[in-house]
Formats: sequence, C-alpha cells, structure tokens
Amino acid sequence: MNKKISRRDFLKAALASIGTIGGAAASAKLVGNANAAPFLDGGGDKHNEMMGPHGMVGVNGEVDHEANGFNPTDMLTDFDYGEVTQENGQTVHTYNFVAVDKLIEMMPGIEFPAWTYNGRIPGPTIRATEGDRIRLNFQNGSEHPHTIHFHGIHSYEMDGVPGAGPGLIQPGEKFTYEFDAEPFGLHLYHCHAFPLARHIAKGLYGAYIVDPKDGWPEVDREFVMVMSGLDIDFDDENDFYMVNGIPFHYQINPIDIKVGEKIRIFLVNMLEFDLLNSFHLHANFFHYYPTGTSLTPSEFTDTILQTAAQRGILEFTYKQPGLFMFHAHNTEFAELGWTGNFNVTE
Ligand code: CU
Ligand code: CU
Repeated sequence: MNKKISRRDFLKAALASIGTIGGAAASAKLVGNANAAPFLDGGGDKHNEMMGPHGMVGVNGEVDHEANGFNPTDMLTDFDYGEVTQENGQTVHTYNFVAVDKLIEMMPGIEFPAWTYNGRIPGPTIRATEGDRIRLNFQNGSEHPHTIHFHGIHSYEMDGVPGAGPGLIQPGEKFTYEFDAEPFGLHLYHCHAFPLARHIAKGLYGAYIVDPKDGWPEVDREFVMVMSGLDIDFDDENDFYMVNGIPFHYQINPIDIKVGEKIRIFLVNMLEFDLLNSFHLHANFFHYYPTGTSLTPSEFTDTILQTAAQRGILEFTYKQPGLFMFHAHNTEFAELGWTGNFNVTE
C-alpha cells in the first residue's frame, strides 16, 4: 500500500472513532464535540454542503481562533516592524520572541502540542528595510532547547545553529540575535535545534521580509502566506497541509480583494517531510520573483513549485469578479487542507 493511501486510511479510521486518535498519535488530542471533527471522506453525500469548488473535502466548523490567540485572516497582513528606533544613523527594529510550548487547535476538535515563537504558527512576520538593524531578544520559555536561525546574510555567531555563538538556547535562557537586514527579498527564520524537521514541523518558523531601500513597486494589497504541514501523529508524514497555520482556513474564510487591485503575495514554503510544495492560482496568471531578490520577474505563470525554505513573490490582478481558488497543485495537499479562495468583487 502506498504512503498516501495508508496515511489517509489512518486518518479516516482515527477520526471516525472520536477520542481514540491518541492511541496512534502520541499527544495530539481531540477536544470539543464529535460534530466539530474534521471529515476526510470526499465521497459522502452527507458532507456535500461543506465541499468547496471541485468537490474538494473540507472541515465541519472552525477552530477557536480566540483561544488559539491568532487568526490566519489577520496574519495575512500583520507585518511586524518591531520597536523602531534610531542609533547612529541606523534604523533599529527590536523584537521580543519567546519560545512557548502551546496546545493549538489546528483542526476543529484537534489540539496539537505545538512549539511556537510567541504562541502562534507561523511566528511573527518580521519586516525591515535593507540596511536596517534587526535586534531580536530571544527567550526560551519552552521545555526544549531551541534557536532562531535566520536566512539572510549575517555573522557566524548570529547563525542560530548548535555550536555557533551561543548555540542552543536552553530552557529559561536568553540570547539577543543581531544583524543587518540583507539582502532585500523574501526570507524566513526557523529553529535549528536537532532533530531539525521536528523542531520546524512543531511550529518554529516564520517569514522575514527585507524591503529594498527604494521600496517595491507600488501595489494595492500585500499578503504573507507561509505554507507548511501538520504531522499530528509524529510519524514524520504530514496529515494535513496549510497556509498560515490552520488547514482549510481560506477555503472557509475567502480573502476579499477587488477587481483591478494589484496584489502582492509573499509566499514561503516551510513544509517538512514532503519534498515539494506548490501554489496554483485559478483563472489568472502571476508574475513570479524567486526569493524576491530581483525587481524583474523570472516568470509569468499560474503555478510554481517550492522545496523547503524556497520562497518567492507573486503579483497579479483579477479582471473579473468571482470566487477564485488558490491551492497546492499537489492535489493530495489541497484535499488535506492547502486550499483557499479569493473573493473578488467590483
Ligand atoms: Cu527548536
Ligand atoms: Cu533554513
């Protein structure tokens, strides 16, 4: 039996017998009532009213965003510039990050024992201008040693890997990472403690945007989307796929945009365990800027591929109103949560 079938069979079996998922899943646990449980059977008439376009599967109900402390709809635009000050002619962005272990309701009725930066998945979207100083006070309030490893250009001591500079930041300890924001483009950060895939998949990652000195070309709306996976039973295979922390979120809560608006998406792939992720936009094409390090697009397309830590900027405009899907073109990923809609209105 191939991996895909066995994984989905496991999920169906586990979710059909509410409350017993813990047997196979070391610590993901079901909460709330059975009616709120996700369903994965795309064929059942019973759930047809919940299906998205294409007859894709979906979820019954929503997670409790308030209890989680974050909402993927807000995360699209919550660019975090930190506390901004001037020092010797340089702009300094000061951030306070705390690693915290936290139960997060990732699917209706399923709480995941996440490891987070500041209690959210993904962590805050750091944003600064090329040449600015990033000063990040990191405190480890978790039960496990962690680090923050940034992509970008910086010294060895600030690389956030075991053995470099302070190395692993132990529970209860602190360290301040500091470096200049360069090069301009779209980057990311994540924990670099080992086993690496586990530390990332548990939720320790986020986007890091470095704006060019003279800014990007003007657009009407900017959104950040961090793609990742959810391995609820810790078998090093993803059970669900998502953007900005919660599977199916933008299918249930379409992103409102207007006809004619120029849209820019900062798209980051933090998926572990699967080699490739993808992004496909319906009924439209986008300009693609890999890593965001050039102001000239490399491609005009409707589908792109990203491996782990690859990222890029997408720009597009809708000419007509409608409900347009965006999703991984790895169909399995889409059916397991990585799907959403743009609600385009006049
Ligand atoms: Cu870690
Ligand atoms: Cu990395």
